[in-house]
Amino acid sequence: MNLPKSFAASAVAAVLMAALSACGSAPKGDVAHGAELYAQCSACHAMQENNLGPAHCGLFGRKAGTVPGFGYSSAMRESGIVWDEKILSEFLVSPFSYLPGTVMGFAGFPNEQDRLDVIAYMKQQTSDPSVCPTS
Ligand code: HEC
Repeated sequence: MNLPKSFAASAVAAVLMAALSACGSAPKGDVAHGAELYAQCSACHAMQENNLGPAHCGLFGRKAGTVPGFGYSSAMRESGIVWDEKILSEFLVSPFSYLPGTVMGFAGFPNEQDRLDVIAYMKQQTSDPSVCPTS
């Protein structure tokens, strides 16, 4: 009766496989899940138009607080942020803590995978010319 031994062996194999697949790929966002999460942003944001929040087209590489016609907080205007994936992820953990004085009324995504997913979706949308025309 060597059940415990083979059980242990398969448990070790499972752990090894999980470790291997975790190492083999850089953290990646799931665009489809990101689209679901972005519904929470859509309460205030749209890609092309300013709404309760500023338009998101052109976000990546843009200086924070610079969408024409949007009334930002001075905290956002004076933040010195240039949006990229890394800073956006840090901001979205908890916008109020990252940027005291921001008027963005969103508590944050504490879960890193959620942030990766929503950012993957935003990257996909903002680089799609049918969503965000470049001219
Ligand atoms: C309750 C409304 C609301 C929700 C929900 C919301 N935002 Fe905002 N967002 C704002 C407002 C208002 C601002 C401008 C903040 C300021 O000026 O301090 C803003 C600003 C931003 C900015 C800075 C844009 C720029 O032009 O510099 C980013 C990036 C952003 N939001 C992303 C998101 C994402 C991603 C989500 C969803 C996870 C989200 N927001 C959810 C209202 C919202």
